[in-house]
Amino acid sequence: MMQQMNGRSLDNFTFVLFGANSDLAARKLFPSIYKLALWGQLPEKYRVIGVARSPFDHETFRSFVRESITLNSPGTVTDEEHFARFCDNLFYVSLDLMEAGEYSRLGDEIRRGITEESSCNNLLFYLSTPPSLASHIIENLEKAGLGGRNPACEGWRKIVVEKPYGHDLESARELNCIVGGAFREEQIYRIDHYLGKEPVQNILVFRFSNGIFEPLWNRHYIDNVRITIAEDFGIRERGAFYEEVGLLRDVVQNHGLQLLASIAMEPPVDLSADAVRDEKEKVFRSLRPLSGEASRENVVLGQYEGYRQEKNVAPDSLVETFASIRFHIDNWRWKDVPFFMSAGKNLDRRVTEIVITFKCPPQNFFGPPESCSYTANQIAIRIQPEETIAIRFGTKRPGEELVTDPVFMKFDYNTSFETEKMTPYQRLLLDAMAGDQLHFIRQDQVESSWAFIDGIRDAFAGEVPEPYAVRSAGPEAASRLV
Ligand code: BG6
Repeated sequence: MMQQMNGRSLDNFTFVLFGANSDLAARKLFPSIYKLALWGQLPEKYRVIGVARSPFDHETFRSFVRESITLNSPGTVTDEEHFARFCDNLFYVSLDLMEAGEYSRLGDEIRRGITEESSCNNLLFYLSTPPSLASHIIENLEKAGLGGRNPACEGWRKIVVEKPYGHDLESARELNCIVGGAFREEQIYRIDHYLGKEPVQNILVFRFSNGIFEPLWNRHYIDNVRITIAEDFGIRERGAFYEEVGLLRDVVQNHGLQLLASIAMEPPVDLSADAVRDEKEKVFRSLRPLSGEASRENVVLGQYEGYRQEKNVAPDSLVETFASIRFHIDNWRWKDVPFFMSAGKNLDRRVTEIVITFKCPPQNFFGPPESCSYTANQIAIRIQPEETIAIRFGTKRPGEELVTDPVFMKFDYNTSFETEKMTPYQRLLLDAMAGDQLHFIRQDQVESSWAFIDGIRDAFAGEVPEPYAVRSAGPEAASRLV
């Protein structure tokens, strides 16, 4: 019944995927589920039930899953027999997600898989659906007796909810109320795939497993922190989504603020999910609000030229595709250390990184005073496309003179370890199966991060974002901010 995986026990279960025909399911979820199967990381007995409106049957769904995996994770399906066995676990229920009455068919499909020996009545629901559907699905699950608070249910119930979790503080609270009505907090997994990335998880390990960095990790030694989430492509086919969401809600409220919290948090008392999330939450609560005038001084929003001509985008759209923000964290560790964040679409490079720049030594013997910024010590944590940590320090340039040049010491995940890495969704699905919430967002974090983002959005309401050229560094005004 129960399988041990790296010391964690995995129960047999049924995975119910709402939005089984979504882009996310095709690009990320199916390849990750198959990788779990391939790596022997699924329990002995499991069933995957895809749910969506499309009139698939089990066979067409299996073909869809296969196509998705072949397209998005080429070379993964090598063993046809193994793949056929995997397909035997895939099922499909077509239903109108808004119609409570149709959920009984889902209940029937779930019950069909429950035998005494399979105990597939452990249910992991996954909402890969547009945010506006989440509350309807949860209410309908509850009505169909499939919610987590149903006292009659045997086995466990968990639900994974995709970002964006609500679209502002008010809607996030409403959603929390609805999800909380059907599931307890320890059954709710609010997913942000950045938290499943190896180099992001490594921030915790890098900071707290090494004695040499933590003593310097504060306002006495650090001059500034820069977080960059730059993409060299536009919104692709997601015009309608972007018009509803915009970059602040799509990337900053979740990925960006989670990176910031990982860098700025205090050491947790232990590695339990709540201990770590408590420390992150304290960072969010220490962020100086950027509303009204403070937003003008510390935030630049931009929109790439040509965005308004994208499919499903309004010709006079005010939606931002770029944001540059100067954060202030008002606590003892970080007071007066600016954290800069730049995130945007259609920029001149694709990179996600965090650069921590240290203060210059009190006296600069080895060059004119301004040369310090050229050799200042830095720790650069690159999350993608490379997965590296580089430390910059000054060293003597060979020759007669005593002058410094900056050099780098570099660690690269790909050359230092030979093991194949898990995909972020593979890792997070495994965590959800095993009941580990460490890398998932807690309700209070969702609310405090929305409160912060809402302040900025209100301050810029009705304003035209600064235009910037495609494949540039973003709007001119953003460089002035830094
Ligand atoms: C998603 C956003 O959450 O993250 C996308 O909706 C963004 O707009 C993507 O492109 C970035 O993820 P990654 O893993 O490619 O950096």
